[in-house]
Amino acid sequence: MMTASQSDRLNKKDLLGIEDLSKEEIELILNNADAFKEVLTRDIKKVPTLRGKTVINLFLEPSTRTRTSFEIAEKRLSADTINISAQGSSLVKGETLKDMAKNLEAMNPDIIVIRHSASGSPHMLARLCRFSVINAGDGAHEHPTQALLDMLTIREKRGGLSGLKIAIVGDILHSRVARSNIFGLTRMGANVRVIGPPTLIPPFVEDLGVEVYHDLKEGVRGMDIIMMLRIQKERENRSLFPTIREYARFFCLTKERVALAKDDCLIMHPGPINRGVEIDPEVADGPYSVILNQVTNGVAIRMAVLYLLSGEKG
Ligand code: CP
Repeated sequence: MMTASQSDRLNKKDLLGIEDLSKEEIELILNNADAFKEVLTRDIKKVPTLRGKTVINLFLEPSTRTRTSFEIAEKRLSADTINISAQGSSLVKGETLKDMAKNLEAMNPDIIVIRHSASGSPHMLARLCRFSVINAGDGAHEHPTQALLDMLTIREKRGGLSGLKIAIVGDILHSRVARSNIFGLTRMGANVRVIGPPTLIPPFVEDLGVEVYHDLKEGVRGMDIIMMLRIQKERENRSLFPTIREYARFFCLTKERVALAKDDCLIMHPGPINRGVEIDPEVADGPYSVILNQVTNGVAIRMAVLYLLSGEKG
């Protein structure tokens, strides 16, 4: 059962980014996700919370984890769900995203979950339409539910977030996961540093309250958590490092490099992982890896977000 404080709603129509959330709002989502995790351990993993609500999953960029996780979360909450991908939609006939959104709005859905390669597209939909919008990843901008599930995983494993030393490593420049985590983790009181080659670190990132390191071995020293990121070749419009092999030589997380962090340092990755590029398989599958715990927690986080935006009483 949820407590009274857990049944409070987010005072928002949409979830567009972590930048817009207060510490209390992040805690509200994490606490609700904890309650939904209990539902996911039952024999019948379904509650009527969103019965009669319609959710459209509009995934206009590839996804395995986020798309499946949202769909499972919606089904666990008894919502009616519709899935739209770029190839199966009239976008291929030249329809604009704006026209598509207004036509979907005319069918009166309650929530639209959108992933799009263009930063800001969820914000446009939220401005134009009555339905609630959940950002499932917009370009290199934000991926709020990924950061929330990351924070839930850290909180579960370490009992809290405040004071932890967390390194985010790799392609910070193109990573919406890095941006959302920087906003969320610093707001929750963690000490965050980013590590990567100068060409993959955005200018002025220090203004977001993080330290910058260019040497992996130096950067991971004493860390409680190491969060690895994939090289986002699909977002690069010019080559930002000589070769993948060269990148791996300096920035692949190996057992020897993990040994420089704290003894029980947790290893995280949002997925998809490129084995042998940013992370050695021994580390990805090793005893301190929580990569699959992150995926499990994704369902509970998405249930919490859908519930908190749905406007229904629990
Ligand atoms: N972490 C993540 O967003 O994975 P997908 O691209 O598979 O959804």
